[in-house]
Amino acid sequence: MRRLVLAALAMLALTGIASAEKYPSHPITIVVPFAAGGPSDAMARILGERMKQSLGEVFLIENVTGAGGSIGVGRAARAAPDGYTVSFGHLGTHVANGAIYKLGYDLVDDLEPVVLLPSNPMIIVSKNAVPAKSLKELLAWLKSRPEPPTAGTAGAGSGSHIAGLYFENVSGIKLQFVPYRGTGPALNDLVAGQIDIIIDQTSNSINQVRAGTIRAYAVTDSKRVENAPDIPTVDEAGLPGLHMTLWSGLWVPKGTPKEIVAQLNAAAIEAMSDPAVQKQLENLGLQMPPKDQLTPEALGAWQKAEIAKWWPMIKAANVKVD
Ligand code: MLT
Repeated sequence: MRRLVLAALAMLALTGIASAEKYPSHPITIVVPFAAGGPSDAMARILGERMKQSLGEVFLIENVTGAGGSIGVGRAARAAPDGYTVSFGHLGTHVANGAIYKLGYDLVDDLEPVVLLPSNPMIIVSKNAVPAKSLKELLAWLKSRPEPPTAGTAGAGSGSHIAGLYFENVSGIKLQFVPYRGTGPALNDLVAGQIDIIIDQTSNSINQVRAGTIRAYAVTDSKRVENAPDIPTVDEAGLPGLHMTLWSGLWVPKGTPKEIVAQLNAAAIEAMSDPAVQKQLENLGLQMPPKDQLTPEALGAWQKAEIAKWWPMIKAANVKVD
């Protein structure tokens, strides 16, 4: 009998069944490449909290900041491909950064797409001291400044920075970008009147707009945000065509087993399908991704298309990074 048990154990070890432990068997880290309190951090925490229910393990948020988010993405890209490190990112970190930095990793070859997450337009906001009641008046005020007006960003290559470059292109107004470790800290300075404007994610600024601590002028979309119907679009307000949607997504290091990618994908989709999560995110101006864009392959194709779309403009801006 003893010989039989030993032979069975040897067989199990040989076939690797014994070593293929259940996934997940311990907490999973989501690397958020911006400071706590910003829109990336907020979305990762909301979704991670619900994904825990699906996978049965806690999702820990690790804020690894700097260089427009590229430090944090690098940390995730170099992690073990075992499903315990997930890279949260967006148009800035997983598209724009590739056109600005000499990254120590390849945004497409060193990361595996998991799922497209909610998106939102950008919103043009200013400190309350700006004497403008409309976008046209804001543009006039910005143009009248003796020095280039200050625009908070989350660093070169961040979503707020790309939006700022796009704003310069369309308005012809030169800005002085002020980099922060995320648009959470940038927004604090805008409320305090330390900087003039941010072209921010709507999800980040919308509650301060509602509280009256900053001014909103337009959203960078052709339609108004459902939960902020009183904020005009750029087309209505005087900067037609300044359309930009900041989408987010999850990635894992290249080589992560397909079945683990599938489990993370399913947990994220379950979280985005939860009515309570949807309500929380939509109240911030975020829209759920289209149902036919939820496979890992769809995020991979979307990211490549966005690289083709944005890199020419970003490279033409000749952004210098220190
Ligand atoms: C960005 O501007 O890239 C993000 O909104 C920054 C952040 O999430 O803090």
